[in-house]
Amino acid sequence: MTKPIIIDCDPGVDDAVALFLAFSRKNDLNILGITTVGGNVPLNAVTANALTTCHHANMNHIPVHAGCGRPLVKTHLYTAEHVHGKSGLGNAQLSLALRGPGAQHGVDFIIETLHAHPQKVTLVALGPLTNLAMALVKDPSIRDKVEELVFMGGAIYEGNTPGGQAEFNIYNDPHAAHVVLNSGLKTTMIGLETTSYAQLTRERAQELLTLGNPTAKMVFDMVELMHIADLDWGKKGCVLHDVCAVAYVLSPQYFKGKACHVAVEMDSPLTQGRTVVDWHGKNSQSAQVFVTNEMDTEAFFTLLFQALSTY
Ligand code: BDR
Ligand code: CA
Repeated sequence: MTKPIIIDCDPGVDDAVALFLAFSRKNDLNILGITTVGGNVPLNAVTANALTTCHHANMNHIPVHAGCGRPLVKTHLYTAEHVHGKSGLGNAQLSLALRGPGAQHGVDFIIETLHAHPQKVTLVALGPLTNLAMALVKDPSIRDKVEELVFMGGAIYEGNTPGGQAEFNIYNDPHAAHVVLNSGLKTTMIGLETTSYAQLTRERAQELLTLGNPTAKMVFDMVELMHIADLDWGKKGCVLHDVCAVAYVLSPQYFKGKACHVAVEMDSPLTQGRTVVDWHGKNSQSAQVFVTNEMDTEAFFTLLFQALSTY
């Protein structure tokens, strides 16, 4: 059965690749809309990138709505041009979208779409959780309309922001993450342990070119800067973080994990944004998040390359 989903994102190289994966699975996913949140680059740029990605893939019928441009409490958005490039889509040369975003605010779009859709909807979050927190605070009744939230963010152990404690999406808006993780939604966390199984090595990137279509070439061009940044973090190639979240929605059997209690550190200057995962179930609080920690790398790349070969 086709799953209705809303994708909240901050494209972002890996967000864009995640969108290409989702777009290619028309029989499995009904994308009701894309909402954007300031993250990898500022809000106007991530919104332009979401529109451009749709345009490139002939998916201009999908509504795109801009959401929040800054975190709930923190006043500064920590962007990642050093990883995703100035535009946010690496070195890719993109034709500009012919449309702008919808007039409605992304948060209101999420609320209205959840209420309007006859089925429960899966939320896929690929950036800071600001829009989802705002939606849950504005209208807590949307909880009953959500099938599941799958978010890319957090880590059981090491982060990927300066200081090494927090993962980028949660670091950017820890207060939003706190609201969302304590909202009662059925939630799955795709954190950095899991996404480390999605390292696109140079060899695999070269294989993209053999697919011989403009989208695969665009992905090749996009990942170069991220590849360099990820080598610097000791990885073997560009880590396709956000793609794992869409892959989970399509094929959860590729993943391992367990239900854990997850808290978010909001205050400490040393560890702000850290997800405190009770992996061994030692604290007294009940588990509220399915935390993944492993993924089948071969199955993941087969899924992705199969998707990219359809363009
Ligand atoms: C996350 O941070 C962003 O830079 C990526 O798009 C991904 O969502 C990984 O920590
Ligand atoms: Ca992202």
